[in-house]
Amino acid sequence: MDALDLLLQRSSQPKLSAPAPEGDALENIKQAALRAPDHAGLKPWRFIVCTGKGLNKLGDMLQECAIKEDKDEKSIARAIQLPLRAPMVIIAYTQYVEHDKVPMVEQVCSTACAVHSMQMAAQAQGFAGIWRTGSFAQSNYMKKALGISEEDEIIGFLYLGTSSLKPMPKPGVDSETYFTDWN
Ligand SMILES: Cc1cc2nc3c(=O)[nH]c(=O)nc-3n(C[C@H](O)[C@H](O)[C@H](O)COP(=O)(O)O)c2cc1C
Repeated sequence: MDALDLLLQRSSQPKLSAPAPEGDALENIKQAALRAPDHAGLKPWRFIVCTGKGLNKLGDMLQECAIKEDKDEKSIARAIQLPLRAPMVIIAYTQYVEHDKVPMVEQVCSTACAVHSMQMAAQAQGFAGIWRTGSFAQSNYMKKALGISEEDEIIGFLYLGTSSLKPMPKPGVDSETYFTDWN
């Protein structure tokens, strides 16, 4: 797929099934993440690729967090199922690297670029995906379960898989609303 078409037709897909990317396709997705813009080359991003039992492990973690956060019964029951909505979930987080010229926000931006690149690399290879966060991304219990510190940030859970559905047509957005020209 042409690079410009990919960007202009980018779309997310919540209904995902097997197969998930594997082999060279998965490696391309990883390499796309590792090419994210990165001020001072700090490489502040980390990724956990969950498939198979890894999805259950993630579901157990989410449920444990829901219990610890006193969520209602329905949310607790649902938490364990969340990662099973796709054959692969990539957890992306920023592991803060102290640097006098690169604040946390830039490191978060770099990780966000990496997530977007992974979604685009997946889409370019015929897969589909959706970037999700939900309240668990802000949960200190979740950070603890992942073994990261409270100052680190969970940037997203990138759900990847295959979809037979055509992307929903999106209404065009008027660029003039969001762009101003300074000539
Ligand atoms: C940081 C971030 C977090 C998001 N979290 C969620 C989420 O938890 N649940 C959800 O349905 N969509 C979430 N989205 C939005 C979807 O990824 C997606 O962009 C949205 O459904 C619109 O679809 P589109 O990408 O095809 O325009 C999030 C997007 C971003 C950038």
